[in-house]
Amino acid sequence: MSFEPDILGFACNWCGYAGADGAGQAKLKYPANIKIIRVMCLGRVDAAFMLRAFEKGYDGVALIGCHIGDCHYISGNKNAVDVVKNVKQILDTMGLNGARLRLEEVSSAEGPKFAAVVTSFRQELIGLGPNPLKAAASHG
Ligand code: FES
Repeated sequence: MSFEPDILGFACNWCGYAGADGAGQAKLKYPANIKIIRVMCLGRVDAAFMLRAFEKGYDGVALIGCHIGDCHYISGNKNAVDVVKNVKQILDTMGLNGARLRLEEVSSAEGPKFAAVVTSFRQELIGLGPNPLKAAASHG
């Protein structure tokens, strides 16, 4: 039986989301099983949001935003790097595997990179298998 991972993406308005838009406008193919939540900045994405997504059964969570140095709120993405590092450790401790959480830098002009990032994340998640919490969760 093939496994198709459910991915939740948090994309910042200025870069990650615009990159997704660029991928769409260029008609680039990327996995359709990513749900994207647009946030103003990755600095807005609390650790609790990420953990809640896994509790709800998502197989992977990606934060996609500006390159370091390009954040429209100066240091939001730098803060997000630290938060993601901590949440990865929590996921490892829980036995979920920190690799299920990614932070990627994608500018508004990098539609192809957005498509590549989502595609490679999907591949990695297929290798990791379903989120062990998935059976008990429903992420409606
Ligand atoms: Fe894009 Fe802060 S505005 S990460």
